[in-house]
This record gives sequence, C-alpha cells and structure tokens, in this order.
Amino acid sequence: MAELIDFSQQSFWICALSIVFNPLFWNIAARQEYHNKVITKLFGGNSLYGCYALAATIFLLGVLRDSLFTTALLNQPIHPLLTSPLIAPVAVALFSSGTILVLSSMWALGLTGTYLGDYFGILMDAKVTSFPFNITDAPMYIGSTMNFLGTALWYGRPAGLLLTGLVYLCYKVALTFEDPFTGEIYAKRERERGKKTS
Ligand SMILES: *[C@@H]1O[C@H](CO)[C@@H](O)[C@H](O)[C@H]1NC(C)=O
Repeated sequence: MAELIDFSQQSFWICALSIVFNPLFWNIAARQEYHNKVITKLFGGNSLYGCYALAATIFLLGVLRDSLFTTALLNQPIHPLLTSPLIAPVAVALFSSGTILVLSSMWALGLTGTYLGDYFGILMDAKVTSFPFNITDAPMYIGSTMNFLGTALWYGRPAGLLLTGLVYLCYKVALTFEDPFTGEIYAKRERERGKKTS
C-alpha cells in the first residue's frame, strides 16, 4: 500500500507548528492588549495604530502559514484517489466559496473589526448580522478551513487533509476562548451605557 503521509518531512511539522502558533499568538497578544495595553503602549498610546500593527502582523503570519502549507504539501505523497477528475472542481468550489466567506467577513467587519479591535477598545456599533454572518457565526474561520481543504484536494495530498483537520481544531479551540471574551467586552459596554442613561 502506498504511503499516505510522510511524517519524516520536516516541512510537515513546520507547517503544523505554524498552524497552531497563529491563533495562539493573536489570542495572547490581544489579551495582553486588553489587560495591560501592551501594544497600545508600544505605539505611544495610539490604540488605532497598535491595532493596525497587530492586523499587519496577523496578516503576514497568515501568508507565511499558507506558503508553509503549500511547501509541506509538495513534499508529500499524492494519493491516487485524490487525482480523480472529480476532485478538481470540488477543490475549486471549496476554495472559491472559502475565499468569498473570508473576504465578505472582512468587508462586513472592517479592518479593526476583523483584527481584534474589540480588545483595543475599538468596538463595533452593533453586532454584524449581514452576510456572511447570517450563514455562520464564524465565517472567517469556516472560510479559511475551506481554503485549506480545497488546496489539499487540489494537490491530491492526504497530508493536506490532516493539516486541514488541525486548522479546524485550532480554530475551534480559539473560538471557545474568543467568543466568551468578546461577548463580555460588549456586555460590559452595555452595562456602562445602562449606567449613563439611568
Ligand atoms: C444571507 O444574506 C444574503 C445577502 O443579503 C442572502 O442572499 C441570503 O439568502 C441570506 N442567507 C440566509 C441563510 O439567510
């Protein structure tokens, strides 16, 4: 039987590390900002600049992770089942819809809304419920996972499917930390608004 995944490839593990590192990094950075204003202080007290800098860092880490993913896949065995002509259109459909979900969420949330502005005290006026947030609560994460899956299928690499599973798991864990935390940030604002009007 042909080997499914070549675990002896260093590029596989470097990619896995990058997949785990990214959400860990932005959660730790954002909480440090929220509790100690670490990033705002780095930018001379300007939280908007701090948020832009974090946005650029997260974006570049994402680009790096995507390129490590492609490199890892190219060093992995291809599975014959994944070279079926039916796979390519599925891969393209996943990648296109994933990209639509990611870009439309960024459009709906804006730059600071996308990149953890809430932790900097830059809050949205109201919860966004328009597309794609009427489909799922986490369109950015779902879309990104779909992009990984589409890429793995496109290259026909089972290793890519496993790494996509890791992406999904990391986002799932990240959400269990992020959702209650941002929920509390907005609940706090509502309590403060209540105080002002009463
Ligand atoms: C979400 O919003 C879009 C655009 O307004 C709309 O076309 C779509 O039908 C909505 N989907 C659901 C599930 O409500």
